[in-house]
Order: sequence, then structure tokens, then C-alpha cells
Amino acid sequence: MTIILGLESSCDETAAALVTGDRQVLAHRLATQEKEHQPYGGVVPEIAARAHVEALTPLIEATFADAGLTLNDVDAIAATAGPGLIGGVMVGLVTGKALAHATGKPLVAVNHLEGHALSPRLAEPDLQFPYLLLLVSGGHCQILVVEGVGQYRRLATTIDDAAGEAFDKTAKLLGLGYPGGPAVERAAASGNAKAIRLPRPLVGTAEPHFSFAGLKSAVLRAVEAGGTSKEDVAASFQQAVVDCLVDRTRRALANVPHVTALVVAGGVAANGAIRAALQGLAADHGLPFIAPPLWLCTDNAAMIAWAGAERFAAGLTDGLDVPARPRWPLDAQAEKARGAGVKA
Ligand code: KG4
Ligand code: ZN
Repeated sequence: MTIILGLESSCDETAAALVTGDRQVLAHRLATQEKEHQPYGGVVPEIAARAHVEALTPLIEATFADAGLTLNDVDAIAATAGPGLIGGVMVGLVTGKALAHATGKPLVAVNHLEGHALSPRLAEPDLQFPYLLLLVSGGHCQILVVEGVGQYRRLATTIDDAAGEAFDKTAKLLGLGYPGGPAVERAAASGNAKAIRLPRPLVGTAEPHFSFAGLKSAVLRAVEAGGTSKEDVAASFQQAVVDCLVDRTRRALANVPHVTALVVAGGVAANGAIRAALQGLAADHGLPFIAPPLWLCTDNAAMIAWAGAERFAAGLTDGLDVPARPRWPLDAQAEKARGAGVKA
């Protein structure tokens, strides 16, 4: 059975994992940079890159020790090559290249989004192509038809902020700290989702895309107006995001010919309210609903190793001259969404 080493360093988690071609996660390690970035309320790229440099090598050694394996045992080395903070991406990719060069093993340059997109197939052996994927993370909010390894058709994207970004900004506004998503979810648990009227941008429109900037501004106005509890703001905000995600996904489902399942992935997919609402939507359409376990939703290297395993099995390896890419759309043919110069 093939064994793939996966490396991830595109944002604020340094991670390494060893995963087999038959879906065994032999070991996976993760070093979060939460403490480093906490004082700034968000990720500082230079701090992130330096922290990746310090963390990665010992992390790889520890991952091999956990699995009782050595570099000689792996069949290929997969590293995130983008999109993300370029300094961080380069740390993982250059390390992957060095290991590939030193051992003569093939390198697989993995698109971080492909890692998220294929992660449900690591968790769920029966998940077949094509499936409809809602990919919701800190930097992206997209609906894709996952047609096969390396084959993605983007149906929708955000025209401004990503869903995770909206969670993070709301958390900052409410003084809930960083990272924002889990903190907002915790506060929302004891709040009233009907306490504050907030907009649901683009809901009900023929346009397929997402928008969260107006929601963020409305949250800011509500907080500035005062007289509301953090819990109520968090709950009302979270419900607005749920409604947007469900409406846009429902629209996409009505416009795709055939999919085997409704799937959600990415850090925001760790949110319980979002998972529950999408489960209901899938049931309405008679589709299975697949969401990876929470640890596999947020950034990790097992998903990179798994995407590496899928690409390796398909004969898709890369030369040592493969570039690190700050931007790297999964569907290069997708039309530009209006206003979406940045996040598409
Ligand atoms: O996929 P991910 O770990 O990193 C990126 O590729 O961006 O996603 C991180 C995002 C952050 O915006 C974080 O606040 C959000 O996922 N997130 C959540 C939850 N856990 C993480 N958002 C809502 N609810 C959560 N429980
Ligand atoms: Zn991610």
C-alpha cells in the first residue's frame, strides 16, 4: 500500500501527516500558531512564515516517530503549493522539494483547496464523484461540482468576504478573540438568533454567488447601537450565515444535473449549526450528506497527504520547479464573479 507524507503550511497551522492509499491516517501532527497571532487579532504573514520554519522539521520527525516509519517508507511527498500566504506556502513546498530531491521520491504539489475538496473522500470511502461541495474556509466560500481528481467546476464564489472571514471579523468586533469561528459558535449557543434583524445578502436572487460584506457591516452597526448582548449578536449573525449558505446551496442543487451527495468541507464546516442546516437540505433533496470529522475540516496535513495520494494514484506528480502560488483557483475556467477580483 502506498504511503504519502503530507505537509501543510499555507496559513497559520504547520502540519505533517502520513496517510495510506487505502485511507489509513498513520500519524498526523499539527502546530497551531494561535498564540503568536492572538495579540494582533488575525494572522500576520511574516510571523506565520517564521513560525512555520521553526516548527516544520521537528514536526515531520515527530510524525514519522508516531508512525514508526522513516522517510524510506514513503512513496511520495505531497506539499501544499498554494493558495495561501506565500511565505508560509514556500516553507512547506521547499521542504517537500528538498525531501523529494534527497530521496529521489516523487513530489506532489497540492492545491490547498483540493485538499479540502477531497478530504470527505478520506473520511467516507463510499463517496463517489461527482458530488456537490460547499467549500467554506477562512479565505474561500465556493460551491463546486467535484467531478474527479483535478476536475472541479465552480458554480459559485463570494463576491466579497469569505464565510470564515465574516466569522473572524464578527468575533473581533465582539471582542471574542482569535480564531473567531469557534468563539462565535460558543457564544451563539446561549444567544437568541432572532434578537437582531440582519440582512441575508443575495438570498433569493438568480445570481449564484455569496456575499457577506453587508452582513458584516450590519453586525458592526448593531454592536455600535448597543443594547445587545454578545450572545444575541453571535446567534443572529450565525443564523444569517446559515440562511445564506443554505439558500445558495439550494439554488446550486436545483441547477446541477446529477450528484451523488451534498458535501461540506473547510474550516467553517466545523460549525454545528451549519452542518445541521445542510443535513436538512440534503434530506430535502434525497441526497446523502457528508461532512468530514471536525479535525479534518479545519486545516491539517492529512487532507494534503490524501489529496497527494489521490493525485499520485492518478499519475499526477510534479517537477521540482513547480512554483508556490499565492492564488490558485481550482477551476481556472470559472467565469469571474462580479467584484470578485480578490477572493475568486
Ligand atoms: O479551512 P481553514 O482551517 O483555513 C483556511 O483554509 O482558511 O478555515 C479557517 C476558518 C476560520 O475563518 C475560522 O474562524 C473558521 O474556519 N472556523 C469556524 C469554526 N471553526 C473554524 N467557523 C465557524 N464555526 C466554527 N466552529
Ligand atoms: Zn484551509
